[in-house]
Amino acid sequence: SHALRAHAEARGLLVGCAVVPEKLSSEPAYANVVASQCNLLVPENAMKWKALRPAPDKFDFRGGDAILAFAQAHRQRVRGHNLCWHEALPDWFAATVNKSNAREILERHIQTVAGHYSGKLHSWDVVNEAIDPASTRPDSLRSSPWLDFIGPGYIEIAFRAARKADPSALLTYNDYSIEFDSPEQVKKRDAVLRLVKHLRSRNVPIDAIGVQSHLDAAAGLPGNGLRDFVRELHRMGLQVFVTELDINDKKLPADIAARDASVARIYRDYLTMMLAEPNVTALLTWGITDRYTWLDAPKYGRADALPERPLPFDPNYRPAPAFFAERDAI
Ligand code: XIL
Repeated sequence: SHALRAHAEARGLLVGCAVVPEKLSSEPAYANVVASQCNLLVPENAMKWKALRPAPDKFDFRGGDAILAFAQAHRQRVRGHNLCWHEALPDWFAATVNKSNAREILERHIQTVAGHYSGKLHSWDVVNEAIDPASTRPDSLRSSPWLDFIGPGYIEIAFRAARKADPSALLTYNDYSIEFDSPEQVKKRDAVLRLVKHLRSRNVPIDAIGVQSHLDAAAGLPGNGLRDFVRELHRMGLQVFVTELDINDKKLPADIAARDASVARIYRDYLTMMLAEPNVTALLTWGITDRYTWLDAPKYGRADALPERPLPFDPNYRPAPAFFAERDAI
């Protein structure tokens, strides 16, 4: 077979992408490519607080449930993303959550959401993006409502609550800009490692690290630091997931064939490096078709406003060079 999932299944790997539930039901071409290529799905936004929590006392599981139903119909696993993050918080959050109730609200959210999906998910991103290399704290934790209201113990609280609510999901810490060997990214990666060791020393349940892998086509490949990091995690018994791979081509000239070739080269070399490590067990791209990518937002996109080409399928669902590179690397 020529599909990513067939290649992945032949070697026991999970492969897939971030999905939008509305498109699974309304756009057959989108549903077809997701069904045929993926054996692992993650909601791009549907399981974030903003989507799940329309009001302080309300939970809306429709988007997440639709993704789970699609996945079950197509023999696919699902990752949850995410239980605790400083972004995508609902509008009511700021006026409602404070120092005296934050812990209870976080624990109740995790108990309810991870409880709703208990036994059905491959994994959860329990805490997303907690570290900021610009932080002046010794643990490099990012300022966020969770840190500010609960203190650094919020991470441990979240992981313990997740294990309690769903004992079978692999519990993940997920972060970005930890792939390269620049001083800033080395600092961030080291802080992630220290966090994992700290959690382990306190018997906090954690099973995997998510390396988001939002890469830049002009930056080339990471050095050896990432591979060493993956190996150190392996020695600690942790899995590693490539959770949000896409390759921003905003710094490259407009020519499509040249951009596609650069993006595909990074797919090939990055994934060949990562998938050679036995504890790298899952690979997700952040979308599947260039028709829908968060990188086209003005904030992230190209100065010439041309559509980005960061994903394995082009805007018309034709496999791009990145698709063949990804498949070959699997
Ligand atoms: C992004 C989504 O792709 C966008 O649609 C949304 O507007 C903002 O969030 N790191 C993460 C993801 O962990 O949740 C982010 O997803 C991309 C960066």
